Amino acid sequence: MSSETIIGVSGGISAYKTAFLVSSLVQDGHGVTVVMTRAARKFIGAATFRALTGRPVVSGPFDRHYPLGAHIELADKADLLCIAPASADLMAKAATGLADDLLSTLLLSFTGPIVFAPAMNSAMWEKPAVQRNIKTLRSDGHHIIDRKPAGNPAAAPAKAAWQSRPKSKPRSSAYSRRKNECATETERLQRKTSNAN
Ligand SMILES: Cc1cc2nc3c(=O)[nH]c(=O)nc-3n(C[C@H](O)[C@H](O)[C@H](O)COP(=O)(O)O)c2cc1C
Repeated sequence: MSSETIIGVSGGISAYKTAFLVSSLVQDGHGVTVVMTRAARKFIGAATFRALTGRPVVSGPFDRHYPLGAHIELADKADLLCIAPASADLMAKAATGLADDLLSTLLLSFTGPIVFAPAMNSAMWEKPAVQRNIKTLRSDGHHIIDRKPAGNPAAAPAKAAWQSRPKSKPRSSAYSRRKNECATETERLQRKTSNAN
């Protein structure tokens, strides 16, 4: 059975995966409208979603194609709102009811089921604030897709290089000379002090 789905894309590295999700929904005969945050547009182009859905991508709350407000008109005709990827920022807004852009406002206007697909690195995911927000969203009745632990093989070489980076800046030879002079001076003072005792 076909349905009308809104896919909300927020700003995360895995936004590219949402193109596959949108493509497979459309191929299965569902009507899909994509709403992107400003940050999401840094990760994937709106042209990709326009071409995949055959519909304009909506970003701003004051889009002139929606005289009643995009958050109202889109909410009215959709059966499901799915946020993929759901950034830590977007979930914080959703958990507190903040509505300062189209996607967060839509989250408040839409009365059907809402699914969040959180995606972020482990450091962000494990922050108590993020976990608190997830708990709030669950207890508000939203569906949270369990986040898979990180493990992107394509990112492995860059990650390994980053982890093996020198932990301190290389020092200039003037710095090393001065460090040796200081050590010699310290030893001389220590000897002088112990002789005096
Ligand atoms: C390279 C890069 C990758 C990022 N990846 C993520 C991510 O995977 N998950 C996340 O929650 N935030 C990520 N961020 C941070 C968000 O883009 C940032 O919090 C942004 O304000 C989210 O805005 P939005 O929620 O309005 O889309 C990333 C930022 C950069 C620069």
